[in-house]
Amino acid sequence: MWWRDAVLYQVYPRSFADGDGDGIGDLAGLASHLDHLAWLGVDVVWLSPVYPSPQDDNGYDISDYQDIDPAFGTLAEFDALLAALHGRGMRLVMDLVVNHTSDEHPWFTAARSSPDSPYRDWYWWRPPRAGLTAGEPGAEPTNWESVFSGPAWELDEASGEYYLHLFSRKQPDLNWENPQVRAAIHSMMRWWLDRGVDGFRMDVINFISKDPGLPDAQVAAGASYGDGSLAFLNGPRIHEYLAEIHREVFAGRPQAVLTVGEMPGVTVEDARLFTDPARAEVDMVFQFEHTSLDQGDTKWDVRPFVLQDLKKSLGRWQEGLAEVGWNSLYWGNHDQPRVVSRYGDDGEHRTRSAKALATLLHLHRGTPYVYQGEEIGMRNATFAGIEDFRDLESLNHYAEAVGRGEDPDAVLAALRLMSRDNARTPIPWDASQRAGFTTGTPWIGINPDFAEVNVAAERADEGSVLHHYRRLVALRHQEPAVVHGDFTMLLPEDEQVYAFTRRHGDVELLVLVNVSGQEVAVEVPDEEAWSRSRLVLGTVDDADGSAWTPALRPWEARVHRRLVTVG
Ligand code: NOJ
Repeated sequence: MWWRDAVLYQVYPRSFADGDGDGIGDLAGLASHLDHLAWLGVDVVWLSPVYPSPQDDNGYDISDYQDIDPAFGTLAEFDALLAALHGRGMRLVMDLVVNHTSDEHPWFTAARSSPDSPYRDWYWWRPPRAGLTAGEPGAEPTNWESVFSGPAWELDEASGEYYLHLFSRKQPDLNWENPQVRAAIHSMMRWWLDRGVDGFRMDVINFISKDPGLPDAQVAAGASYGDGSLAFLNGPRIHEYLAEIHREVFAGRPQAVLTVGEMPGVTVEDARLFTDPARAEVDMVFQFEHTSLDQGDTKWDVRPFVLQDLKKSLGRWQEGLAEVGWNSLYWGNHDQPRVVSRYGDDGEHRTRSAKALATLLHLHRGTPYVYQGEEIGMRNATFAGIEDFRDLESLNHYAEAVGRGEDPDAVLAALRLMSRDNARTPIPWDASQRAGFTTGTPWIGINPDFAEVNVAAERADEGSVLHHYRRLVALRHQEPAVVHGDFTMLLPEDEQVYAFTRRHGDVELLVLVNVSGQEVAVEVPDEEAWSRSRLVLGTVDDADGSAWTPALRPWEARVHRRLVTVG
């Protein structure tokens, strides 16, 4: 379980670095910045999809699982990148998107060509609802809403049948009930492993098993569609399918692979089953509880975030996976707003709060993931109007909400806070024109703060967020208590201080994080003993390694270490 000691770094290739001047990041751009990743010290790169794709959902709509999209490069460039990463002692994890394909994948074009096609059953096709005519409002086979607004079914005019798409209409869902589908996916995964990749991040993998009865969902008052997830979230055969993947693809491989399943709606109890090594399903899951604490009924209903809720949530996951299973630790990815704008202070305290949140997360028990740009404390984007957005989820939501009569300014205000495009602005490498991202016109606006927030500037500044991330990675690699220590939450009711200990053998770490802009006094149990501890990591430049202070400055975080007698 080498990945317990590892730090992963997610690359969203479109926005990382552009090597050929077309305004879209690519493999050549990524290859030219491996020094950055090596300097940071990360162990594994998770690469978001680079496969051929119509790019309806920026590559999460795949039309060929076994090639590279020309916008990103070639298979030869991919092989060279993989070799270069391996040469530097890093590993590469691919994105596996197999809940759905693109509607332009040959499997789907064949399926759509005729109800008699041998591929028809590779997807979910259904006639219109009994008593209604195809195309009539409400004739969809179920009343489910798509994750990207509107119905989850699209009518195929030629056959008069509908196909299921839980995401966009260009992302038809594969029918995993069909053993040929599963065999094709297994063989594709083996092909990538044979090429040398080191594992997979599995996109919405807990959606792949559907209740074949496809029952209608409850519809909330005033809504047009229902949430069908009862029929497909951790569906009836999910554990069987994951165990089968393990058997067919991973078992007996000489290389040590890593698997992490993206699992919306997963509970701690489910996650314990999914990540129990004895069950051989996945190594870790991505859960979404802690990234939903600022939301009401939908992600667009943004609420203030309360620190005690974060403690309750992360604390429960720490406890629930303490003995069996393992946690993934993340703040950001390509679907989440920037954490410093969300749970931190992206104004006066940008640097300090980004460091504080990073310390809080990385000192939990689990494997941390750094999303590109997080290591320099990137802020949310600045979007003037709807024309600045690119993401189909945001655009669909805007059209749908405004169409339904919502105030366009209010819809925009929510998009500015929660849109996935916040995470997708280009990485600012330096303060030069177009931030060193591209020589062309970037596909999405560059964050206007790039003269201040960029990799080169932070590299030159020891007190930067970037240097702090590097120290956090190094600490994990040097201090076994960070990886293996048990976890005890302190001060659960405190509204400003997030505090916990990690204990491994005779080493104990105390992590104190001031999640506020005010100076606060801390009262930790056993303060007398901690007053003689060593400060191994601090976030405020003048923190002195030998000094214990009973107060934390605004957004200050400290990690103390002491030896305890093993009783
Ligand atoms: C989750 C991915 O992270 C997201 O970007 C994508 O839109 C959906 N799955 C559909 O593939």
